[in-house]
Amino acid sequence: MRAMTTTPSQRLARGLLPLTLMLSTATFAQDATSGGEVEVLNWWTSGGEAKALGALKDELADDGIGWQNMPVAGGAGTNAMAVLRSRITSNNPPTAAQVLGYDAQDWADRDALSSLDDVAEAGNWDEVFPQPIQRFAKSDGHWIAAPFEIHSTNWVWANTSMMEALGIEQPETWDDFIASLKTAQEAGHTGLAYGGQPWQDATVFENVVLATGGADFYRQAMIDLDPEALDSDTMVESFENFRELLQYKDDNSPGRDWNLATAMVINGDALYQIMGDWAKGEFLNADLTPGEDFMCFRTPGTQEAVTFNSDLMIMFDTGDEQQQSMQRTMAEIIGSPEFQITFSQFKGSVPARNDLPSDELDACAQRGYEQAKAAADSDTLLGSMAHGYAAPASVKNAVFDIVSSFVNGNMPSDVAAEQLAMAVQGASS
Ligand code: GAL
Repeated sequence: MRAMTTTPSQRLARGLLPLTLMLSTATFAQDATSGGEVEVLNWWTSGGEAKALGALKDELADDGIGWQNMPVAGGAGTNAMAVLRSRITSNNPPTAAQVLGYDAQDWADRDALSSLDDVAEAGNWDEVFPQPIQRFAKSDGHWIAAPFEIHSTNWVWANTSMMEALGIEQPETWDDFIASLKTAQEAGHTGLAYGGQPWQDATVFENVVLATGGADFYRQAMIDLDPEALDSDTMVESFENFRELLQYKDDNSPGRDWNLATAMVINGDALYQIMGDWAKGEFLNADLTPGEDFMCFRTPGTQEAVTFNSDLMIMFDTGDEQQQSMQRTMAEIIGSPEFQITFSQFKGSVPARNDLPSDELDACAQRGYEQAKAAADSDTLLGSMAHGYAAPASVKNAVFDIVSSFVNGNMPSDVAAEQLAMAVQGASS
């Protein structure tokens, strides 16, 4: 992919604005933003994530906009959201922040955000972003966030040479998956690279729920929060399957960051990692090629659906004209076709826009992009619980508590299902 050198006026031209409006907007953007700087709160601190973020920084620089990074380490934004809240409470909002679905809605409900309607209209966002993304990037019919990409969480990342050495074929079913982990363990290897942090526990757990109960059950339990589904035999079975899977992690997993777990697969210290496709950003950052050095496949048993999340950039309403102009430029960059592709090439994701050619995406992303689009059309693009797209933060955190207690203790599966239903009910009432 060539480096992007588009100017604001070129991007506006792609939105097919009338020439007069195009020129006046571009001129305004240049005058109002020159010398300005955006402060961007995010949790993109791993190698692949930082490279992807760098693509935004470079694009802004081309438009004469400076960059003040505000990174808050901690996967899935667990720490970043606390920092963001305290910045807003002390009346010192950043220019923009990376957030996930329900959190974006929450900030919109508090009237904290700038509208992105003019950028969205010029870029035809209503047509090119799929409905499941619009559901979270719009509020009351207005665009309040710019979607970076679509990530999905039901992926396995595998070390190809270990698979070959162990004679393991890509597993298609949950049982085959477990059998392959057993093969690795019996040969003295760690089967599952695992990061024992609540959001990672929940990421793996949502994979197991989908593999165990299927798409309809996932929706009932995780999205509709149906108490009967949460405390059902299928949920008990999900916890049983989860317990079985956990036998294949190593003893040093508690507290491990996700990218260190990815490094275990990269370095041949573990066979598989179950993780969202941001993990692929780490393989790519290590110059590894999908389909050759590493494999990607949908978590066996989950092939009928895609569990997704999408990073959204929200812009805070500071009342400052220069900031507003820079915010619009940033939103315009994020939504543009070239940026959507370049960003995903670093990040491991697929474009959130559904109208782009896929030939510049890698083999995993080409498949992932088709799968995400097909899932959006067939209503099987299901929000990730662990990543803020299934339920509001209060419920998500209640799920994290139960799932992590299960991972770190000896809670029987039937007790876990019962507690999950109670905790979700308590958090959602
Ligand atoms: C997700 C986020 C990704 C990636 C990951 C690990 O929630 O959408 O962009 O950062 O967390 O932190």
